[in-house]
Amino acid sequence: MSSTAPDLRFPDDALAATLEALAAEVARSAGRLVVDERPDAVEVSATKSSATDVVTVMDQRSQDHLIARLREARPDDAVLGEESGGAAGTSGITWVIDPIDGTVNYLYGIPAYAVSVAAVVGDPTTHGAWRPFVGAVFNPVTDELYLARAGGGSRVVLAGGVERELSPTACDELGQALVGTGFGYAAERRDRQGRLLLDLLPQIRDIRRIGSAALDLCAVGAGTLDAYYETGLNPWDLAAGWLIATEAGAKVGGFGGPGAELTWACTPGLEPAFPDLVEAGTERHLRG
Ligand code: IPD
Ligand code: CA
Repeated sequence: MSSTAPDLRFPDDALAATLEALAAEVARSAGRLVVDERPDAVEVSATKSSATDVVTVMDQRSQDHLIARLREARPDDAVLGEESGGAAGTSGITWVIDPIDGTVNYLYGIPAYAVSVAAVVGDPTTHGAWRPFVGAVFNPVTDELYLARAGGGSRVVLAGGVERELSPTACDELGQALVGTGFGYAAERRDRQGRLLLDLLPQIRDIRRIGSAALDLCAVGAGTLDAYYETGLNPWDLAAGWLIATEAGAKVGGFGGPGAELTWACTPGLEPAFPDLVEAGTERHLRG
């Protein structure tokens, strides 16, 4: 049976550059909001998939802020966000946003959370049917802004405005690889993720669980991790980081692309060993 392939052509570079600047601006302003107005005691306002999958008042406020700014600048684009709300559009471009990626870190005051903003083509609610062409990930505590647009490379703007191009590490041995990962919120998924981790641990240098998938993907692009994998990510966790890592020269994939059951990212020297390892392990523990 044949199906119509989705139209995943990117807009021209002039528009992409304009949208990259917009993504940078809104990610920064939402990031400042969550830091400047962080209550002394951050409280959980709701739970989602499990009792530990939390939303704070600031997740919702950050998302509302992002949607308002994006709709003002680009009224015809759609918006898909992690929290409630969102908007339909007619332009064929969707903003995929995570208002605080690393909400548990935010709750505890651990300085590893980010606002993630991506512009994508295709349908981000269908696995494999969309691609990011602009991405911005802003850590408001360290004041680091990761940016990319398709074909334009990726860079980080450090506190004080210094810019650096990103590039992944030269690691080419699994046994030397420092690997980031993360775990979902549902107990059953965590049980299977734990078994996959047990398989991997003896074969790599070590594991880091930073607590923000967006920052993990940027870290592979920036060369502060050699590789990263996680099962069960949503489009808002990975959209901007996927592009930032890829444009830095890292490899990113999964079964039929990142998302759904598996997202992996690694420096080129770890391909195919790293994807083979995590894909086989995921088949064994998550699909079997
Ligand atoms: C979570 C973080 C975490 C990852 C989880 C995500 P949230 O996003 O990215 O690192 O392990 O899978 O759900 O809930 O903090 O936006
Ligand atoms: Ca997230």
